[in-house]
Amino acid sequence: MTAYARASSTFAFGYGGQVASPEAARHPHSSARDAIELHQIAGIFDARAARYAHDDWHRRYAEQFVAVTPVRPGNRVLDAGTGTGFAACAVARRIGARGRVLAVDVSAGMLEQARAAITTSQLSNVDLFQGDATAMTHLTDASLDAVVCAAGLLYMPVAKALREWARLLRPGGVVAFSTMRTGSPSAGRLFRECAATFGLELKDPSEALGTPARCREVLEDAGFTRVDVTPDRVDFESLDPTLAWEANSRAMDVQRSLSPEQLQALRERYLGALSRAMQEDLAASARAEVLYAVARRSG
Ligand SMILES: C[S@@+](CC[C@H](N)C(=O)[O-])C[C@H]1O[C@@H](n2cnc3c(N)ncnc32)[C@H](O)[C@@H]1O
Repeated sequence: MTAYARASSTFAFGYGGQVASPEAARHPHSSARDAIELHQIAGIFDARAARYAHDDWHRRYAEQFVAVTPVRPGNRVLDAGTGTGFAACAVARRIGARGRVLAVDVSAGMLEQARAAITTSQLSNVDLFQGDATAMTHLTDASLDAVVCAAGLLYMPVAKALREWARLLRPGGVVAFSTMRTGSPSAGRLFRECAATFGLELKDPSEALGTPARCREVLEDAGFTRVDVTPDRVDFESLDPTLAWEANSRAMDVQRSLSPEQLQALRERYLGALSRAMQEDLAASARAEVLYAVARRSG
């Protein structure tokens, strides 16, 4: 887990949610992480890594987020949950040769893709590290200027992550994360609504962080100040209902919860609902509503 390596789509339309654990169901503000262990997260993203790396939607989401994040030339930056390195590469270009990005992820498969992206981009200021971004115990207090987390915090224990990043930041240092708005994208919300008619209670993975008030609350609870939350939209290149079904039904583990007949009936109901939504408002169906939260370590 601590191997240290120097490193010189189709959008899933998923995000429908997951079967919440009883514990998570009791705590409506718990994150997606509550129902799933770290090694399971690694496995899920290992399997997704090759497709993820070529997914233009994820790249644009990360780059739009980094564009509003106040990192400066020469900064030392942690990219928590770097995945295939989209945000790490964007940050590395912003901070220049005097700066340094430590890009951390638990998934070896995602890091392999990140390594390839860094090499292709000829960036020499990014280090890759496989490990838990919420427990960077080998890093000293106040050693960083910024911590960024693009689309990753919802997979982590939020309070623990933010406390750890507060420890790592110098006074005045920047923490920034991006997250999907609650109920977005509509393809995922419709999937949860259809699944509910089959008795499946699926949790919206964005619920824990998906409003400006929730972003502010979790940051202030962790002791951060000067919180700023910016809404944005990230358009899908296209919206294919069949792909949306595949992504949602796979991600949700619904295969195990429903009989083949129920699964087929859910498929038909979902495809019908999504097609109607697309006819009513294609633009709204084909974009994700997101939030970028930025704050400062006090002191
Ligand atoms: C949705 S991906 C986002 C990847 C990338 N930041 C981006 O914007 O494309 C979430 C990533 O967070 C990673 N992750 C989740 N929990 C983690 C943890 N506790 N420590 C390190 N990485 C974690 C996953 O392995 C996955 O690669």
